[in-house]
Amino acid sequence: MDKNFLNDFPILRSRMNGHPPAYLDNSATTQKPESVVRAICGYYGSCNANPHRGVYELSVKATKVYEEARRKVAAFLNAKSPKEIIFTKNATESLNLVAYSYGLNNLRGGDEILITIAEHHSNLVPWQRVAQATGAKLNYIYLAADGNLSAEDIDKKLTRRTKILAVTQISNVLGLVNDIKTLAAKAHEVGAVIVVDGAQSVPHIPVDVQDLDADFLAFSGHKMLSPMGIGVLYGKKKILEEMPPFLSGGDMIEYVEEQTTTFAELPQKFEAGTQNVGGAAGLTAAINYIQRVGFETIESIEKDLTTCALAELKKIPYVELYGCEAENKIGIISFNIKDVHPHDVATILDAQGVAIRAGHHCAQPLVKYLGQNSTCRASFYFYNTRQDVERLIEAIQKVRGTMHLA
Ligand code: ALA
Repeated sequence: MDKNFLNDFPILRSRMNGHPPAYLDNSATTQKPESVVRAICGYYGSCNANPHRGVYELSVKATKVYEEARRKVAAFLNAKSPKEIIFTKNATESLNLVAYSYGLNNLRGGDEILITIAEHHSNLVPWQRVAQATGAKLNYIYLAADGNLSAEDIDKKLTRRTKILAVTQISNVLGLVNDIKTLAAKAHEVGAVIVVDGAQSVPHIPVDVQDLDADFLAFSGHKMLSPMGIGVLYGKKKILEEMPPFLSGGDMIEYVEEQTTTFAELPQKFEAGTQNVGGAAGLTAAINYIQRVGFETIESIEKDLTTCALAELKKIPYVELYGCEAENKIGIISFNIKDVHPHDVATILDAQGVAIRAGHHCAQPLVKYLGQNSTCRASFYFYNTRQDVERLIEAIQKVRGTMHLA
């Protein structure tokens, strides 16, 4: 591996509006190294067939690629068994699986679901729908002044009535890291299960599901160098075994009669239909790449970039920052420029080859809670450089002038 990561990422050597891309939208999706692209092409070029279904050599090869990916993910998360790893499309589908298979079947009127105001819609809307369908109440943990979860709210609202605590490990808007281990212990004390949205954490920090004692954890491959369309749900085996299937169809059955069906064992019970084996091959290569870089390096690069960017942004009087005072922050910075709509900011930055996201970031209740309709968001990954940060700051400094504001 080249120490200059840019050499591994073809897209980062391309041009965006005539500039090398300063790609700062990694919370939305990450770019893919050549090794991942090669793994996907390699799968389709030499192993493609429908896994689990054929006895011929290609199908056996496809099964091997798919199940190797499952073992890789299990080891990466320190799951007890590969049977605890369910492949899905993305974190959203993983969280929906838990909501509809576990939530719908374990909640009734009088029960409570506790989530935080900092949830992505994928860990919020499914719980609204489950609450509406079961008569359970949906409660929120709000934020303390520094943007972290209110400790008072956690202690007040996590009670014996709480059956599910669903919480993101890292907010996709504020970048603040929640203490999942403590939350899991508190949830288990009152008899609740904890569902963790790991979409923004698994790519950036080491996640050990046994150490956290998470009951469920969801993440997407595409936010960690893999192709889109492959995601993961981790669940404790005992809980998954007791849950009914989410989707039904091919490959998730044991026997099908005219009126009844018995279901396959884990993990097939939750993997109906033909699966994304090419995506799984890409995910294996992505985890290999991340392990070669190492989380120590990933965290230290992202910390350096975040510290540099925040130091410069704080010097600009017309920049307003959100959730940037707390220590437990990774490389996600949400901000606004006084009197300029975030979409205008993002468009002006784009013209200079700087890619950021603007909008509500699929977290409308949080953005509203912050008193905003939308924000700008810069999010880093380990292949970003200090030069990217300099270009972000220079571009931001041009925004008000471009809008003819003083
Ligand atoms: N969840 C992704 C984001 O935060 C799309 O941008």
